[in-house]
Amino acid sequence: MNYGKYDFIIVGAGAAGAVLANRLSEVANWEVLLLEAGGETNDFSDIPAYNNLLQRTDMNWDYYSTPQTTCCQGMVNHQCVCPRGKVIGGSTTLNGAIYSRGSPSDYDDWAYMGNTEWSYEKILPYFKKSEYVAFKPYDKYYHGENGLVYVNYTYPESVIANAFLRANIEKGLKEIDYNGREQLSVSRIQFTIKYSKHQNSEHSFLDGVKQRKNLKIELNAAVNKIWLKKDAAESVTFIKKGIIYKAEANKEIILSAGAINTPQLLILSGVGHKSELAQLGIEVIRDLPAVGRNLQDHPMFLNVFFRTNVSAPQHTVKENLELYLRGKTPLTNAAGLESIAFFNSKTITSGKPDIELLTIPPPLSVPSDIRFSFNLQEEASKIYNKYRFSNSNDISETKI
Ligand SMILES: Cc1cc2nc3c(=O)[nH]c(=O)nc-3n(C[C@H](O)[C@H](O)[C@H](O)COP(=O)(O)OP(=O)(O)OC[C@H]3O[C@@H](n4cnc5c(N)ncnc54)[C@H](O)[C@@H]3O)c2cc1C
Ligand SMILES: *[C@@H]1O[C@H](CO)[C@@H](O)[C@H](O)[C@H]1NC(C)=O
Ligand SMILES: *[C@@H]1O[C@H](CO)[C@@H](O)[C@H](O)[C@H]1NC(C)=O
Repeated sequence: MNYGKYDFIIVGAGAAGAVLANRLSEVANWEVLLLEAGGETNDFSDIPAYNNLLQRTDMNWDYYSTPQTTCCQGMVNHQCVCPRGKVIGGSTTLNGAIYSRGSPSDYDDWAYMGNTEWSYEKILPYFKKSEYVAFKPYDKYYHGENGLVYVNYTYPESVIANAFLRANIEKGLKEIDYNGREQLSVSRIQFTIKYSKHQNSEHSFLDGVKQRKNLKIELNAAVNKIWLKKDAAESVTFIKKGIIYKAEANKEIILSAGAINTPQLLILSGVGHKSELAQLGIEVIRDLPAVGRNLQDHPMFLNVFFRTNVSAPQHTVKENLELYLRGKTPLTNAAGLESIAFFNSKTITSGKPDIELLTIPPPLSVPSDIRFSFNLQEEASKIYNKYRFSNSNDISETKI
């Protein structure tokens, strides 16, 4: 069915797609269509601490890696999970809401390699433009006050988070703003939350502009092909409730379907490695061997447990929800996380950070099924649970 003509068609309403839909539709005479395969968010997905549980819902594409030889060895079939948001807001709806820009030195390295517009100095105005800094005090040189992305610390801090801060300070790290001049530091986490709620890219960039007449947002609309003519993308087809629609673009089609689905969609559209397309029986529109290769992700190691004789206050789920509605921890801590440290694995207190440490303080306010979340083998999950639940406080808290 014909779905009409638009100036811009944006595929995917995740981090990138939501920002683009907001900014492009500022121009009143541009018609913008935003297509998203997933559906709506809800009050539950707004709770920062419950983000990991969303992986067990339709809001996740539910991808797994191929069997690995050098990592994922504790996982079933040596396959790691690869969660990706299938919902408005995309992976920002599922994510840990940690506001961390990265080390200024990484940006400067990219500039040095030739991407001169990517130095930290040149990128900083854009970070500031996007940010609404809600904590105090802050350094105006590094933080923005008028943007749409709310950034805040959570409150009150837990006993364990404080112990973590003090321990790292003893090791020589400074407690400073890790999004400021230097990343090497220990800190409480800066989260993208507004009052209590998780600020996914929908809440930051779409909630305020959904009523614009020149912006059409279509949910549960999965694009299955970009149609190209002489190297120019002309239209897309998408499926909604079993019906195939075709929408045409006057100016541009923007692919913001994420690190996995963007190359998938290119391949489905005939843009990819020639022999791979042939194998799949897809006509070659453009032989671009790099499509779908060189995926890089950050490795993670979980499970450094330690016991302490400090007892943490324990609340029921109901009490936690009441605290949440008043803007208080623990449910305002995305994934239950609270503190963060960046250091160099050799020198700790100097050089470029190459390790990021995160703590989840007890009592774990979030019910979680570690075996599912990480696709752990039974044996590995037994070891994990043995340590994790050896603190009896956590067990009652985890039954919901
Ligand atoms: C579990 C988890 C925790 C994370 N924690 C953090 C964190 O704490 N801090 C941080 O900065 N980053 C974090 N990230 C990373 C961050 O969320 C992503 O880098 C970011 O969301 C990527 O943005 P994107 O626009 O490329 O893709 P996405 O945000 O994934 O958006 C892609 C969108 O395209 C849609 N789409 C895909 N295919 C189609 C199609 N064929 N048709 C229509 N729509 C389609 C998807 O449904 C999705 O909505 C985390 C990610 C995950 C998964
Ligand atoms: C930021 O956190 C402080 C301290 O908890 C709180 O008083 C304030 O309301 C928060 N602001 C926003 C916008 O979330
Ligand atoms: C915890 O252990 C330390 C070191 O042994 C001790 O000084 C402290 O009093 C103990 N605290 C509690 C609450 O038992």
